[in-house]
Amino acid sequence: MIMAEKLKKFYVKTYGCQMNVYDSMVIGNIMKQEGYEMCDSLAEADLIVVNTCHIRKKATEKVYSELGRIKMVKKFGAIIVLAGCVAQAEGELVFTRMPFVDFVVGPRNIHQIPSLIKAKDNNMALDFSVDPKFDYIEQDAIPSTISAFLAIQEGCDKFCSFCVVPYTRGSEYSRPVMDVYMEAVSLARHGASEIILLGQNVNAYHGLDENGEAQSLGWLISKIARIKEIKRIRYVTSHPVDMHSELYDAHRNESKLMPFLHLPVQSGSDAVLKHMNRRYNYDTYMQVIYKLCECNPDIKFSSDIIVGFPGESDIDFAMTMKLVECVDFIQCFSFKYSPRPGTPGADFDNQVPEHIKDERLKILQKVLNDKQIAFNNKMIGRSLDILCLSNDAKNQNCMLGKTPYFQTTRIINANNKNCRLGDVVKVSVTKAYQNSLDAIIHGV
Ligand code: 5AD
Ligand code: SF4
Repeated sequence: MIMAEKLKKFYVKTYGCQMNVYDSMVIGNIMKQEGYEMCDSLAEADLIVVNTCHIRKKATEKVYSELGRIKMVKKFGAIIVLAGCVAQAEGELVFTRMPFVDFVVGPRNIHQIPSLIKAKDNNMALDFSVDPKFDYIEQDAIPSTISAFLAIQEGCDKFCSFCVVPYTRGSEYSRPVMDVYMEAVSLARHGASEIILLGQNVNAYHGLDENGEAQSLGWLISKIARIKEIKRIRYVTSHPVDMHSELYDAHRNESKLMPFLHLPVQSGSDAVLKHMNRRYNYDTYMQVIYKLCECNPDIKFSSDIIVGFPGESDIDFAMTMKLVECVDFIQCFSFKYSPRPGTPGADFDNQVPEHIKDERLKILQKVLNDKQIAFNNKMIGRSLDILCLSNDAKNQNCMLGKTPYFQTTRIINANNKNCRLGDVVKVSVTKAYQNSLDAIIHGV
């Protein structure tokens, strides 16, 4: 009797943004085609891929400490691939710092992992392959999730002076319309109820349709909204200068497009925004917000803010505080500026001392946290539509889902009401926390 060949095992550890989560899915999908099976034990894996983030210094340091841990527990002979943005940014240096790493692969080259491993004549793939990784995805083998990421765009041409992304992810690339649409159809067929369209600069999307015409994100959203099984659509991350009329129209007309938008502002000071090369100012950002509110009066916003960018004075910081007083961000990520090697900001004069960054971050986060809990409290007693995403591991009767505004919600009596994953159910909110809500179901 011929014994079936034992499948080799691979393990993927992911750091960073949603795009990296998507890329890890692509790596998994490609390795399965190569005869590997996913495992969740480092010690058993024949292949370990660490998919990395370089956005701030802390993120990069985490990667190196994780690599140290992997070295201790990996099985003898396991292949180690360092993928993602740290790989792209540090290149050969990775082998100096961590000689046990076998391959270094940039985010635009992840589909080349199998050929690198087989050929063994080269240990790096960092050349921003012109051959898009997306073409290597086996659509039917994408893991089915109720809320599914779909990358439509990658890279960035904006060159904000603090950001490594244009260097690590390369220039903007938009996937063709039909590829995106077919992936959305496939995700829907495999159980996705929500699609989150991804890109570093997702609203700069300009993919070609079958006639060779470039289409916008707004147009694409309307096309995807016609897929019956898709109940909700979101997109992330947007740049304020790339909001366009078809996208405003989608916010006005597409009921499947959720009334929640992540729109990073970074600072409220015109001087700082200029040095950041953000291409908008306080007033033009506010105009985008007003216009979106006009299109959909129910829309809510989240944002990213950096404190302590070089040259940021007390007055500049006060403008950021003014902006967060004016826009009710219901959620907001805030960061201390982290100088990244190779970006213009790292060489700017007037770097802000660490203790001032700490102080400003504390002041800002207090206001942002208060606003978030105030908004969550306002939900108490309200009737909301929740998309059921998972069972609650901590409580048999409960399910976890999301409100239209992306708040995580625990549905207390979900199982008594026979509600199913993927359903959109009407709930009444009973309790609010800093980062989540409790609710009871009153109809399916
Ligand atoms: N320092 C601090 N925050 C940064 N971000 C990007 N680069 C840096 C940096 N060098 C933040 C921005 C961006 C988010 C993803 O990370 O706010 O929107
Ligand atoms: Fe980075 Fe600016 Fe591009 Fe966003 S728009 S990825 S912050 S360079």
